[in-house]
Amino acid sequence: MPAVAAQMVTKIFGQGDSQVVALKDAHLSIEAGEIVALMGPSGSGKTTLLRALSLIDPPTTGQIAIGNEVVFDGERVLIDDRKLRRQRMGIIFQAYNLIPFLTSLENVALVLTLNGISNHEAMTRASELLKSLDLGHRAGIYPATLSGGEQQRVAVARAVINDPAVILADEPTAALDTERGKAVMDLLRQLGRGQQAAVIVVTHDERMIEGFDRVYHMTDGQITNH
Ligand SMILES: Nc1ncnc2c1ncn2[C@@H]1O[C@H](COP(=O)(O)OP(=O)(O)OP(=O)(O)O)[C@@H](O)[C@H]1O
Ligand SMILES: [Mg+2]
Repeated sequence: MPAVAAQMVTKIFGQGDSQVVALKDAHLSIEAGEIVALMGPSGSGKTTLLRALSLIDPPTTGQIAIGNEVVFDGERVLIDDRKLRRQRMGIIFQAYNLIPFLTSLENVALVLTLNGISNHEAMTRASELLKSLDLGHRAGIYPATLSGGEQQRVAVARAVINDPAVILADEPTAALDTERGKAVMDLLRQLGRGQQAAVIVVTHDERMIEGFDRVYHMTDGQITNH
């Protein structure tokens, strides 16, 4: 059974003359432990697809299953989507979306405390993960004073801290130099293999392409081959 499966996923923004069909019958199927790339030109629907799969911005129509659970069917969300994201998904946004009034450490630890883990353990685990991403010295710093690359790595740490079953990452290496980009890809691969997570990475980054099991290509809202 795939860890993530999407069928006939269509997303239409706006109405009438201003209508945009951002996804058209998109389909994909990813096994636990697989890491796949999602590539395509700007505006082809990559971010829209990740937002649909995470139910942050659900499709207009289609079907999405996460593990053995159908979470979206027809036109309806069938589960508590916040809980789904908090407990089973890690999401790295194209804009990092760090919480500005929390330090790097607090941003990473937050999801653990929301899941009922003690503050002490949450801080310890977050601190170790930040160190492994070469960010130990930035733990107490607020996002506004981090560089773009540092914000991106804090966002990666935040997304993976709760060992999610599904990781959705929108350009996670774009702001990084080759070495740090590789470190982020290694971490995502390690989670894929080690924790048997299904990992989907939107990327334009040809330097990172060899690290993927498969590549999905998007054109005009459609997945054209894989
Ligand atoms: N909230 C929205 N309202 C209206 N149109 C939208 C909205 N979000 C996205 N779109 C449109 O949907 C299409 C797909 O956008 P999307 O952001 O998914 O592209 P993308 O492949 O992620 O591009 P990029 O590589 O530039 O990030 C575009 O035509 C975009 O203008
Ligand atoms: Mg995008």
